[in-house]
Amino acid sequence: MAVPVMQRAIAGDERAVPRAGERITRDAYGRPITYLRISLTDRCNLRCVYCMPAHGMKFAPREELLTDEELLRIVRVAAQVGFSRLRLTGGEPTVRPNVVELVRAMAQIPGVEDISMTTNGLLLERLAYDLAAAGLKRINVSLDTLDPQRYRIITRGGRIEKVWAGIAAAEDAGLSPIKLNAVVVRGFNDDEVPALAGLTLERSWQVRFIEVMPLEGVAEVHDTGLVTTAETRARIEAVYGPLEQLEAPLSDPARVYRIPGAKGTIGFISPVSEPFCAFCNRIRLTADGKLRLCLLRADEVDIRGLVRSGASDEALMERIRAAVWRKPWGHGLREGDRRTGRGMSQIGG
Ligand code: 5AD
Ligand code: SF4
Repeated sequence: MAVPVMQRAIAGDERAVPRAGERITRDAYGRPITYLRISLTDRCNLRCVYCMPAHGMKFAPREELLTDEELLRIVRVAAQVGFSRLRLTGGEPTVRPNVVELVRAMAQIPGVEDISMTTNGLLLERLAYDLAAAGLKRINVSLDTLDPQRYRIITRGGRIEKVWAGIAAAEDAGLSPIKLNAVVVRGFNDDEVPALAGLTLERSWQVRFIEVMPLEGVAEVHDTGLVTTAETRARIEAVYGPLEQLEAPLSDPARVYRIPGAKGTIGFISPVSEPFCAFCNRIRLTADGKLRLCLLRADEVDIRGLVRSGASDEALMERIRAAVWRKPWGHGLREGDRRTGRGMSQIGG
């Protein structure tokens, strides 16, 4: 049986300890926080059922969003503080004007070692080459179904052919590894879990199954549709036999497996049934300029106001360090605490 995350933390697993000489900012619990997820926009060209409510979605007015200059300044300062890995999210990051230029500028910031993106893939056919040339390394593409009609239902209007074209372009452009994210929702795509897992037989992708979380506006999808990792895994093993467990960094929220003989891997992300908070290494920057300390807690620290008040780099660094220090230990889903304050598209998955 896998050792629970908390016990590994207490035992001081050496994989969680930073190497000598690393620039590291730690939170109050000793976790090294080096990974910044940046929401480039709260807008999206889809309306996935587990992410946005059907009606009444409010988007931030333009003046509340960080400008390119403000965003790049914050990233530069964050890199000085010790954030070395960036992931661009949304909403849908590729709908942000100048996304390629932003990636290029971020890739040149000293201390930035890795830039990745989580995208729905619809615009990748057009953008993958330019993004890769600008310095993007890897992508995660959301894909919950293989069926075009279902894709249209789950995303409220998306065309799956565009996603496949985007994935092909990303592969051609050398974005690697490619990970596909499937949020499993009962009654929508749970019966497709084995087929999605089967993609890994011939492709060196990682297909990741995610437990649906009760974010603002979509809590009822969680309440009626949650499929736990244990059930998802059992469905895969019923078809392909026992999965082999693979080593993965503890800070990777996915537990990684392989169908014996497959080219790709399978990841399980279990925020509900097995929270991975003990090894959390990230904070988020929202498109409207708040540092979001935990995906599932409403705690935020304003950075936009400080930038717009003409603060020095030192003052920004202090604010970021103080925010990291305030990072909550973990989310409270188990205890029934779901005050997340915002929806996924406003935080950046
Ligand atoms: N629960 C879990 N994951 C979600 N995502 C969006 N909404 C939810 C939710 N309620 C994830 C999807 C998508 C990414 C952008 O955010 O994995 O791929
Ligand atoms: Fe858009 Fe991603 Fe949310 Fe779907 S999950 S609506 S693609 S931000």
